[in-house]
Amino acid sequence: MDSTNYRPRIAIVYTSVTGNTEELSRIIGSCFSDEVNVSLFRIAEFPLSWLCSYDAVMVGTYTWGNGNVPTEMHSLYSALETAARKELITAAFGTGDSFYPDYCGAVDRFRDMLHVRTDLAVTLKVELMPQERDWDRCRKLAELILARLKINAQ
Ligand SMILES: Cc1cc2nc3c(=O)[nH]c(=O)nc-3n(C[C@H](O)[C@H](O)[C@H](O)COP(=O)(O)O)c2cc1C
Repeated sequence: MDSTNYRPRIAIVYTSVTGNTEELSRIIGSCFSDEVNVSLFRIAEFPLSWLCSYDAVMVGTYTWGNGNVPTEMHSLYSALETAARKELITAAFGTGDSFYPDYCGAVDRFRDMLHVRTDLAVTLKVELMPQERDWDRCRKLAELILARLKINAQ
């Protein structure tokens, strides 16, 4: 970033029905230091017009049906697909159940699109409710976003 006083803005936008992805989103949010300005939004609280206000957008989703993106995330998917912001740093993360053949399929759907349309930095899949062992993976994810923002992790 150009200015030393500038704190990059990161949005974590998630959806969650039973709380697993919400918990994962909160853990990820807590892995960032004050060097960045991190805001956590449920998808229903995030106007899509705000996409252009962030340096990085991290998308958190569970998977539904047979590897599907949940309905409430479709408009965010389309907005990111058409935003024409190749410089936007992104991450796709989520929770799923490996009982299903398309484990965390919604994360894969976002990953494939974000890789083409944005500057995708990292993806993360977590089995159901995040466990102790997942904290390191969340910290790593945050480090990769910070590296892309050209901020050294502490
Ligand atoms: C009807 C139904 C379909 C599901 N389909 C998948 C699936 O295809 N792939 C997967 O990884 N998980 C699947 N899941 C599991 C959820 O994605 C998983 O429980 C997730 O952690 C829920 O997240 P949440 O607690 O944030 O709502 C399914 C769950 C239900 C109830």
